Amino acid sequence: MRTFLLLLPVALLACGTPAPTYHQDVRPILEGRCVNCHTAGGVGPFVLDSYAATKTMGPALVDSTQKGRMPPWLATANDVGGYLRDPSLTPAQKDVIKKWVEGGMPEGDAKKPTPPLADVAAGLPQVDLTLKMPEPYTPQTLPDDYRCFVLRWPMTTPTYVTGVNGVPGNSKIVHHVALYLIDGEAAKYPPMWDAEDATPGYQCFGGPFGTRPQQFPVKLLTAWLPGYQGQTFPRGGGVLIPPGSTVVLQMHYSSLEAAPLADQTAMEFSLAPTVSRRVAYQPFLKFDWVAGQMEIPANASEVVHEHRADPRPNFGLLGSPLDTTKGFTIEAIMFHMHTLGRRGEVWIHKADKTKKKILEIPRWDFHWQQEYQLAEAVRFEPGDELRMKCVFDNSKPTSKTTNWGENSEEEMCVANLLSSE
Ligand code: HEC
Repeated sequence: MRTFLLLLPVALLACGTPAPTYHQDVRPILEGRCVNCHTAGGVGPFVLDSYAATKTMGPALVDSTQKGRMPPWLATANDVGGYLRDPSLTPAQKDVIKKWVEGGMPEGDAKKPTPPLADVAAGLPQVDLTLKMPEPYTPQTLPDDYRCFVLRWPMTTPTYVTGVNGVPGNSKIVHHVALYLIDGEAAKYPPMWDAEDATPGYQCFGGPFGTRPQQFPVKLLTAWLPGYQGQTFPRGGGVLIPPGSTVVLQMHYSSLEAAPLADQTAMEFSLAPTVSRRVAYQPFLKFDWVAGQMEIPANASEVVHEHRADPRPNFGLLGSPLDTTKGFTIEAIMFHMHTLGRRGEVWIHKADKTKKKILEIPRWDFHWQQEYQLAEAVRFEPGDELRMKCVFDNSKPTSKTTNWGENSEEEMCVANLLSSE
């Protein structure tokens, strides 16, 4: 009898008669992949947490999921087994939503809801340290405000960060968050920039430098999107934070959905005194670009900048703490362009002439930058090369010729590689 009951809905679906229902088929997908953001007070512009609310959005859900815009995840299939914690819907799950809408969006039995899909991120194993913005800040530029806040690293001994989570002060306006590590001599600069600005924090866009030309290497620590649980670095890795470091919290506030409100976001960290594998973000980019040779002419819609090289000589110059003389392992990638970016790719070309795609972003969206953890770590051996490609669209009637730079009207093309030795 039990088996019969379990098989029945599948059998009926196969015959094509009853459409999927909200409580039995659609709700588990939405609760597992959408409601974390599309809830009251969440970052999503409308709620998807009840039958009535979901029904009003039916056709929009179909378009958004079929075209892969939601849930926000820019990467498509790679040649290294995909990604860890990929929240993308499977074709079958997308089809359930489509068939439900085509079938008239029946409610089903509210008393017997199917449990939600498991969350893709496990969250932090434990929270050892919480660092909060020193004071609340209300966005001043509309609709987007990019603001950097200085978080003093309090640990007095070298400590590894093994995972990070964000706790938005006001999830209606917190759109995305990036964390940068500034250590050594340079750690003193962000507090100075903060002090120069009368309001809390200081204005910044592409990185933690604000409106200043880049002066020293930036170390990305991680990125976080509201709605997602925090995550640990893959395979037990940890990023070493020396005592005396400054952590810069870069906030992107969006006041499109809500009037500007005060926010005081905090970041949670899992820490460890030692780790089995030390990891660090190493930026793969072309130095000529940074020196002004990444021109993006006005009125051009397909401007391609491509770079192929052994990135290791540059890692040292960019302040990498890892010894990569015998090669290195790529654990995760965070791709970075600004708002003219349209597509991006990263490949490894092995010495034996085989090549593999590590990351592909077919529709870049500046608003949804995140860390893509590789399901299979990729080993870079001496003799191999990495290739990356950024495609920009600068065809708006108001466009101006632009180049590499920190500001919102300038561009970047960087593949930040979370690496281990
Ligand atoms: C990480 C947070 C987050 C998650 C998870 C998420 N959304 Fe969204 N969604 C947003 C935000 C923010 C917007 C506002 C527009 C934008 O930034 O794209 C949005 C916009 C939308 C829109 C209108 C715009 C469009 O691109 O279609 C639809 C429909 C939508 N979401 C459906 C969904 C569905 C269905 C899911 C789950 C399968 C989902 N969302 C998961 C945050 C999220």
